[in-house]
Amino acid sequence: MVLVRGNCWEPALAVHRVLAMRPAYACAPWPLPRPRVRWALDQPEPVAFHHVPVLLEAVLEALRPAPGATLIDATVGGGGHALALLRAAQPGGRLLGIDADPAALAAAHARLSAADLPPGSFVLHHGRFADLQAIAAAHGFAEVDAVLFDLGVSSHQLDTPERGFSFAAEGPLDMRLDPTGGPSAADLVNRLDERELAELIFRYGEERASRRIARLIVERRRQAPITTTADLAALVRRAVGRGGRERIHPATRTFQALRIAVNRELEQLEAALPQAVELLRPGGRLAVISFHSLEDRIVKQFFRAESGYGGSAAARPPRLTIITRKPIEADAAEIAANPRARSARLRVAERRA
Ligand SMILES: C[S@@+](CC[C@H](N)C(=O)[O-])C[C@H]1O[C@@H](n2cnc3c(N)ncnc32)[C@H](O)[C@@H]1O
Repeated sequence: MVLVRGNCWEPALAVHRVLAMRPAYACAPWPLPRPRVRWALDQPEPVAFHHVPVLLEAVLEALRPAPGATLIDATVGGGGHALALLRAAQPGGRLLGIDADPAALAAAHARLSAADLPPGSFVLHHGRFADLQAIAAAHGFAEVDAVLFDLGVSSHQLDTPERGFSFAAEGPLDMRLDPTGGPSAADLVNRLDERELAELIFRYGEERASRRIARLIVERRRQAPITTTADLAALVRRAVGRGGRERIHPATRTFQALRIAVNRELEQLEAALPQAVELLRPGGRLAVISFHSLEDRIVKQFFRAESGYGGSAAARPPRLTIITRKPIEADAAEIAANPRARSARLRVAERRA
């Protein structure tokens, strides 16, 4: 692992964080409350991290890392895609892995360190991909051959009740990818007014019962704040009712909406995509795996706009060539082995000269 300038705060793991707008590394003063991040970084052995990388073969085929390639995994998670890409890029390949979640970085660090990779072939960074260019510049990744985004949450995050992403297990209503700061889902649920809640649930969850859910939330929190996933799931179930032919849990859409809002997922994606294009060298490739239609629409429209689709009268010449006219999806065998792959859509584009 490359230690660009050492990390005076946590030398054992050397997970860096570059502060937006600050050229120097954030060793001192550490901007966030230390005790809340230490739980993740201090563990002598990272907790077992389970996440099967989706569409792995398709990603490798799409990004075609050659020996010596310079790569960015903007959502490194447990390092599954990163490891396969880095291996394919040897000898000489280098990878910058970014994640908002310190626990994911710890897992990626353990996985990549245990692999047969040359020393100094990867560097991991704690941050948000909306700061992609600043992070890449700080680590000397000025021009790269490939950028990967594998959006959303990992299975590990979903299945850890303390993170509060899932209605399937009781936990605090948190949902922050980066538990070191920012408002949690409980903050939103207990603070937004009824109209704002209804709008959020409708816009990010495409939930038709959004107004009913918002009304019930506001009624319920007059008695006591809503603090757990189970509380919210039960309440949504009551608001939505049992009816319908839906095969998904009635709280699925509301939980998705809150997660997107808490982590500003769509804004992050919109901010990051143009930066990824800037970083690519001609012939370099951008691959994005999305898991719901709101993300996929952003990627599709961005690719179209950047490729001059429909002869659009854009101010500048097209920068991308679309490689995947239709998104690549998992086949039946992958879905059977990893049900999470069911909703994955991979889109790929190439930087023009
Ligand atoms: C689906 S997982 C990636 C899994 C990874 N490809 C692997 O093979 O293990 C998505 C990861 O992206 C991270 N993430 C999501 N949004 C992010 C953002 N805006 N900035 C940085 N990381 C983000 C999440 O914390 C999570 O670890």
